[in-house]
Amino acid sequence: MTTPVTVRAPQPSGDYPLLSVQDLRVRFATEDGPVFAVNGVSFDLRAGEIIALVGESGCGKSVTAMAVPGLLAPTATVTGRVLLAGRDLLELTPKELRAVRGKEISFVFQEPMTSLNPAFTVGKQIREVLQRHEGLSKKAAQARAVELLQLVRIPAPERRVDEYPHQLSGGMRQRVMIAIAVACGPKVLVADEPTTALDVTIQAGVLDILRDLRDELGTAIVLITHDLGVVADLADRVVVMYAGRPVEQAEVHELFAHPQHPYTNGLLGAVPHREQGVELVAGRRLAEIPGLVPALRSDPDECVFAPRCSRRTDVCTSRRPPLEPVRPGHPAACFHPGEAS
Ligand SMILES: Nc1ncnc2c1ncn2[C@@H]1O[C@H](COP(=O)(O)OP(=O)(O)O)[C@@H](O)[C@H]1O
Ligand SMILES: [Mg+2]
Repeated sequence: MTTPVTVRAPQPSGDYPLLSVQDLRVRFATEDGPVFAVNGVSFDLRAGEIIALVGESGCGKSVTAMAVPGLLAPTATVTGRVLLAGRDLLELTPKELRAVRGKEISFVFQEPMTSLNPAFTVGKQIREVLQRHEGLSKKAAQARAVELLQLVRIPAPERRVDEYPHQLSGGMRQRVMIAIAVACGPKVLVADEPTTALDVTIQAGVLDILRDLRDELGTAIVLITHDLGVVADLADRVVVMYAGRPVEQAEVHELFAHPQHPYTNGLLGAVPHREQGVELVAGRRLAEIPGLVPALRSDPDECVFAPRCSRRTDVCTSRRPPLEPVRPGHPAACFHPGEAS
């Protein structure tokens, strides 16, 4: 970002976790009984850090991402703690939460077209968040909107600010969503597959913007992605999720160099790339693992990956593997951890 911006940066907070998610659990009530969507996810995020949540479809990534800023439907029961700068978001009233969301913690979702209002100009939609949270005048908010479009590298921002969403490409719309999300200088941004719906050629631009936000504003980012190249490129730490449970967590280099859980090994595939540490090619998807993610109708006291696991023994179906360090700073929930041979 070479252009000067007036977006307020969160203050660096040293080693203090900006966001601390502790034993997050989400259960949905449905007509067919409960769904145990997230079962005990914990992670800390410091200013300027990016943590990636990875796992196949249906593993509870989006539910985790939505639970953090309190966006789940009322059918969800959420327990645990979500401490944002020490304050538990799960304890806030809906009104208090609305004041925090968009200002201290923001989110960007996969499909930008459904999140933007087709009836209003881009400028009006950016102004709305600035006027609501910062009490800016219309004129000041419009000027800030142009700066924000510049921040997310939208060419000719003075013109674009008066356009409607349908006049923009998918990549541009996603940039507008990011501009709205960061308009008030949030400490934390939750980005759920922000590039999945975009063409490969424009994904990189959106990811560069996330990197800029992290590097220049110190924004901490919870990034959900299927793309291991993106993880290798952007993330500092990784949480691997399977069937609603965290199965392995580590710093990105450690995880790619020494994956311990058979699920992680499966995702990474039989990778010669691993020889080169994290030198993965962007666009590389999670490897296919035979079998399906189980329906989350229960939270059983056994390893949920056992039915698909080549290392399975009796212990795996007799009790739940604890998420405990297998290497320094590197927990995995497996009775038979280790790198694939
Ligand atoms: N509103 C809901 N009601 C019931 N079940 C849900 C709801 N939202 C998500 N789920 C279930 O929670 C599980 C995790 O979903 P999700 O977090 O969207 O997975 P991911 O993002 O990893 O693909 C899935 O089994 C999904 O069907
Ligand atoms: Mg999802």
